[in-house]
Amino acid sequence: MTNNVIHDEASASTDQRTPLLKVRDLEVTFRQHRHVVSAVAGVSFDIFEGETLGLVGESGCGKSTTGKALMRIVEPSGGSIELDGVDVNQLSGKALRNARTRMQMIFQDPISSLNPRRRVKDIVAEPLDCWKTVTGDERDRLISDLLSKVGIDPAVYGNRYARQFSGGQCQRISIARSLAMRPKLLICDEMVSALDVSVQAQILNLLEDLKQEYGLTLLFIAHDLAVVKNVSDRVAVMYLGKICEIGPADTLYESPAHPYTEFLLGAALEADPDSPINDQVLEGEPPSPIDPPSGCRFRTRCPNATQLRPQSRRTPRHQHAAPRLR
Ligand SMILES: Nc1ncnc2c1ncn2[C@@H]1O[C@H](COP(=O)(O)OP(=O)(O)OP(=O)(O)O)[C@@H](O)[C@H]1O
Ligand SMILES: [Mg+2]
Repeated sequence: MTNNVIHDEASASTDQRTPLLKVRDLEVTFRQHRHVVSAVAGVSFDIFEGETLGLVGESGCGKSTTGKALMRIVEPSGGSIELDGVDVNQLSGKALRNARTRMQMIFQDPISSLNPRRRVKDIVAEPLDCWKTVTGDERDRLISDLLSKVGIDPAVYGNRYARQFSGGQCQRISIARSLAMRPKLLICDEMVSALDVSVQAQILNLLEDLKQEYGLTLLFIAHDLAVVKNVSDRVAVMYLGKICEIGPADTLYESPAHPYTEFLLGAALEADPDSPINDQVLEGEPPSPIDPPSGCRFRTRCPNATQLRPQSRRTPRHQHAAPRLR
């Protein structure tokens, strides 16, 4: 079977829009002692301007590594990452730093991603001070404006230290900092996973408002499928370093094409006796990315995998029933 089930293949082929981000065959490997960890193994997807692409999958499937590779926080070992037509994977030095200002990443743990010994306004100003794009009064005005936009009163809280804030407030400060350079793409890696449900909702509403106001495009990485469904236009499902299905959020959640997506949804979403989605439990653990299965990486856990009868003297191999493409 193919690595990508292009769930929205029909719409993709007629889509005349140029993607803001075009990722092709992205690979990331890590050396671990004598082993090679194949964390991202040839991932391809587009993100169109103004949309939110959700990225889901079990722990360890390579979601964060994909996000970090886009920013070149970890070095890809292959593939291309075109942002507005420029391959970020070919850039170095100032050109790379420049490209990075157009993409920003927000991490899961807001408290440890902010320096506890710096004042809030200086944290938000970090990118501006680094690039010296604005200085003096204009800088101060911009910081106040950003803090107000994320719901932190700059006059009251601007001089406080990050350690004096709650997780939700710290995430607001992280968002303000990420917007300072007016990026086009925000990569949100489990940005609400560490927060209480009520705070999660506030942060997600804020993100949606800012997305509209700043014309942002989002890659929203999370393991919470309900949250991802709420925020995403399209969703990509990752398994063991590969995307196994990608498509519009509604279609993918209502009628998943890949058996792995069906298992994920069946395990995570509320039990609904009328739902056509199979709620069988997925047995076993994902195989190690050090020694991934040959062929389809899901085949060792896939209920559709069958042992083909050996033909003549050839060795047996596994095969999936091909999922429907739509
Ligand atoms: N620096 C590293 N060195 C070696 N292996 C790594 C490194 N970073 C990640 N990995 C491995 O790469 C694989 C993908 O990890 P990654 O953190 O991208 O997964 P994830 O999908 O974000 O998981 P989670 O949902 O738990 O955040 C895992 O097997 C992980 O152990
Ligand atoms: Mg992660």
